[in-house]
Parts: sequence; structure tokens; C-alpha cells
Amino acid sequence: MSEAKRLAGEKAIDYVEDGMVVGVGTGSTVAYFIDALAALKDRIAGAVSSSEQSTARLKSHGIDVLDLNATGPLHLYVDGADECDPHKRLIKGGGAALTREKIIAEASTKFVCIIDPAKRVDVLGRFPLPIEVIPMARSLVARQILSTTGGQPVWREGVVTDNGNWVLDIHHLSITDPVGLERELNQIPGVVSVGLFARRPADVVIVGGEPPILL
Ligand code: A5P
Repeated sequence: MSEAKRLAGEKAIDYVEDGMVVGVGTGSTVAYFIDALAALKDRIAGAVSSSEQSTARLKSHGIDVLDLNATGPLHLYVDGADECDPHKRLIKGGGAALTREKIIAEASTKFVCIIDPAKRVDVLGRFPLPIEVIPMARSLVARQILSTTGGQPVWREGVVTDNGNWVLDIHHLSITDPVGLERELNQIPGVVSVGLFARRPADVVIVGGEPPILL
């Protein structure tokens, strides 16, 4: 599987242009993208990173990590996903980096998602849906999700996000209306962000393989 991730990560280099600030996601597939980006480090202006993990990898290659407030809008964001449906809507947050990922996706003109073939699904929800919550709201949010969606929230105990928050993973959802569910869950007080990328889906999906498939 890591071979498919490597092929997807390396293919995404095709979208990098000289002088760009590149938005960079988080995860094992993105790690291959970062390693490939290192070869272009003198031709790009730097990167905006979605996690401490990616920041460390970018810096280890000598790639400048910039503040999104200083860069303004980005042309390109490259990130992985935990699930992808035929409309390029995604579940993300398996690595607990969903909030910063969502911010950078929103700030970017083109979101290129890099996945291995196992991430493709017809209907989102087999992968438990991550939700970042303010710690004091954990049980409130869990109760509301249980009563409104029927999904089973499980606290990802021991995990603290880069923003100092906690993560609930919602099991047993079959997400037939991803945009509606994203909107509904975003309304619950204490929810920081929802790992559904449906209102702002990917623009391009690269499925790693020989050759890679573009969706
Ligand atoms: C991080 O929080 C997630 O959104 C990642 O994008 C996702 O988990 C990436 O998965 P891989 O490690 O399989 O690339």
C-alpha cells in the first residue's frame, strides 16, 4: 500500500509551479509528497503546514514554513484523506490534523488530494468520522451526535490535537448527505471542526497506482 501512496505523493509534484507557496497536509501519503518537494525547494517560496508533524518534515528538508496570515490565499493545497467518494468529498482527520487541514483547504484555489486505492468508497462513513472538540464539550457533543445521527461517538482517548483539543470518532454512520451532515454537526457548540470535507471537496484526486488515476 505504501507503494501506491508514494506514487500518489510523487504525482502531485506535477501541480507545483515555480515561486509558489504550497499548502501541505498531513499523513503518510503527504510524507512522500514532502520528500519529493524537497527536490524543488529552491524553486518554491515555501510551504504552509497543517500540523507540527508536517512542519518538522518540511524543515528537515530545509523547506521554509510560512504563516498563512502572512501568505494570504494559496494556489495549491496537497493533502491525503481517509475516505473519498465519487464526488471527491472526503473524510479526513485520522491523524487528528483536520482543523488546520480544513483551514488551508478553504484558503486554497486548488485542493489536490492524494490517496491509495483503498480510500475510495461509494458512500462515506465506513471510516469513523473524526470531530475535533473543545475538551469541556466532549460529552455534550457526543450526546447530541448520538441522538441526532444515531452514530456511535468514541473518544480518541490520549490524543490532543495541535490546537490543544480532543477528538471524537463517530462510528456506524452511512453519510448519504455529506454537505447536510457537515453543516448540522458544525452547529453543535463545542465542535471545532468536522472531518467531512463536503462543502469544500477536493478539486483533483490522485489515486496512486501504475499509472496513477486522476479523478
Ligand atoms: C490527518 O488528520 C488526515 O486527514 C490525513 O489526511 C489522513 O489520515 C491521511 O491518511 P494517510 O496517512 O493514509 O495518507
